[in-house]
Amino acid sequence: MYRILEKKEIAMRNTWYKVHAPHVAKKVKPGQFVIVRAFSNGERIPLTPVMWDEKEGWIVLVVFTRGKTTARMAAELKEGDHILNVAGPLGNPAEMKKFGKILAIGAYTGIVEVYPIAKAWQELGNDVTTLHVTFEPMVVLKEEMEKAVERHVVETVPIDPNLDFPTNMKNVTKRLVVKVREMLERGDYDLVFMVGPSGDQKAVFEVVKEFGVPMKADLHPIMVDGTGMCGACRVTVGGEVKFACIDGPEFDAYQVDWDVLIARSGYYTDMEQRAFREYMKLFEQASQGGE
Ligand SMILES: Cc1cc2nc3c(=O)[nH]c(=O)nc-3n(C[C@H](O)[C@H](O)[C@H](O)COP(=O)(O)OP(=O)(O)OC[C@H]3O[C@@H](n4cnc5c(N)ncnc54)[C@H](O)[C@@H]3O)c2cc1C
Ligand code: FES
Repeated sequence: MYRILEKKEIAMRNTWYKVHAPHVAKKVKPGQFVIVRAFSNGERIPLTPVMWDEKEGWIVLVVFTRGKTTARMAAELKEGDHILNVAGPLGNPAEMKKFGKILAIGAYTGIVEVYPIAKAWQELGNDVTTLHVTFEPMVVLKEEMEKAVERHVVETVPIDPNLDFPTNMKNVTKRLVVKVREMLERGDYDLVFMVGPSGDQKAVFEVVKEFGVPMKADLHPIMVDGTGMCGACRVTVGGEVKFACIDGPEFDAYQVDWDVLIARSGYYTDMEQRAFREYMKLFEQASQGGE
């Protein structure tokens, strides 16, 4: 059992959990993930240790309230409660070497997965710029990022309650693509790295390809066991079937079959639309309450 030492909402629908998990804190490396089973009757979901302390034995998870499990975690878990199981660390660590000038991009809560990798790259002597593109009330880890890397850029998009979920998300994608193009035109980058929804990763990749800059991406297919046994996380990379949990999650963006990945991840599902509509309701109530 894994005790929740601290729990707080750090932005709209983004919850910070500091969890006692000494075996993970001792071994985890940037780029690895854990499989969390929060409830005895609940699903297993992959999450990323964002920061950790080996001596004190804790890890921090930042979780976006997306669907059933993450919503239950946000609503039902309290400080002092226990998470049933935290398996890991799993997956391969991010490649750690001197690349030179790096642009590391996080869309939405993807930035929390960028954080430990970008920090470690900067500590190795790389010149790291991070870019976070998200909805206005969902900015996270701004101060931590500013301390960790050479420069941190935040681009926010307002939520338009008159538009549906896919259209609001498309506005984020548009801003992301414009900003990445602008940054690539200005800077001479040796590597681009990105974590975020696969549709956004593909859109960014199309821009990066024009500039011929190497690009890596952490992929997020559905994961169940995280150990290569269930086959849920299969992706096509370089024309071959790979399992993101054991062969990744980091892959060469030029080798990924983005269309297969997007089709499998059900990018704009009805469920996500429903969840977003519920969020919009809460958001409107909160804004009215604050006036
Ligand atoms: C390696 C990895 C690291 C991740 N790290 C983080 C993190 O640090 N913080 C964070 O907020 N999110 C992270 N995610 C995404 C997170 O796992 C999903 O948001 C979560 O599983 C959704 O569960 P749900 O029951 O709330 O949503 P559901 O209602 O079940 O699903 C909503 C959507 O979430 C995605 N999803 C659902 N189940 C899974 C699953 N088992 N694996 C992957 N995607 C799933 C699907 O695209 C689905 O359409 C990570 C995913 C991967 C693969
Ligand atoms: S999550 Fe089961 S094979 Fe990767």
